[in-house]
Amino acid sequence: MHKKRVFSGVQPTGNLHLGNYLGAIKNFVDLQNKFECVYCIVDLHAITNHQDPKELKSNILETVASFIASGLSSEKNIIFNQASVAAHSELAWIFNCVARIGWMNRMTQFKEKAGTNKENASVGLLVYPNLMAADILIYKATHVPVGEDQKQHLELTRDIAKKFNNDFKCDNYFPIVEPLIPKEISRVMSLRDGMKKMSKSEDSDQSRINLKDDKDLIDQKIKKAKTDNNSIPSEIIGLKNRHEATNLISIYASINGIEVAKVLKEFGGKNFSTFKSKLSESLIERICPIGSEIKKLLKDKNYLNKILEKGSKKADIIAKNNLKEIYEIIGLTKFT
Ligand code: TRP
Repeated sequence: MHKKRVFSGVQPTGNLHLGNYLGAIKNFVDLQNKFECVYCIVDLHAITNHQDPKELKSNILETVASFIASGLSSEKNIIFNQASVAAHSELAWIFNCVARIGWMNRMTQFKEKAGTNKENASVGLLVYPNLMAADILIYKATHVPVGEDQKQHLELTRDIAKKFNNDFKCDNYFPIVEPLIPKEISRVMSLRDGMKKMSKSEDSDQSRINLKDDKDLIDQKIKKAKTDNNSIPSEIIGLKNRHEATNLISIYASINGIEVAKVLKEFGGKNFSTFKSKLSESLIERICPIGSEIKKLLKDKNYLNKILEKGSKKADIIAKNNLKEIYEIIGLTKFT
């Protein structure tokens, strides 16, 4: 049996939004009292696409600020950045030699991100999932809170663990990880198009709620959010093919920590304008204090860097130790 350990990674982007919060950070906060948790800012994943160096640095700190402002404790959890712990890259190389090219080519995220010109994508983008598997398995983590879109990458992590355990005849060495996908909302969609993920890269700022948005802006964005002409159903089946309605209802359920069915019971038969004002209220109550705390924390870069430094040192001890074992299994010797 492996000791239960949670690991998750978040790409360092500035301006985190409701999708990042409900899809990831909120769950991290819920898990911190139940498990030993390791939360990583995956800066090495970020550079699979070119990043402006100055922006990258500031985005990393903004991500730490968003973690802390949302209630993640830097005492209870290990919070650090991937580039600080060399063993992630070292294990990723080993996994480059375990995973098969065909596995990489099947990844839908690669296909989406590489677009039509696959030949011109960075090699890093292709082997991105191997680094992700290394992030998780270097800590022998057993549970990984992620959004629905990362499920395929976790399947791959399981395949790599199984192949490694099998190839090197070390049964059960790497755990077979379990995804923890939020029940009420598996992905937060754009406020303008219920078929598209809420995203920082979407041109229209109206499509998302940013953690730093003020009260009036949140209210205005929710008022303008796309819905349909029908009223709110009282049963889940009534949400079928109503993507925008489903999204708003799920956001409400998730932010208030209640089930979708219960939301429908309360609002079934009502029109969206009544519901939207309640939704705005909930969002403002939850998001605005986080936004102001982020702004405050960003004024003390030294404090934020210290959090990463402390977390990195703790992570490095575990990772180095495991890497040594892994090298031994493979037949490699590390003299340093
Ligand atoms: N690929 C994840 C995303 O884009 C980020 C990530 C990198 C991750 N390494 C991870 C998530 C390890 C969970 C575990 O959201």
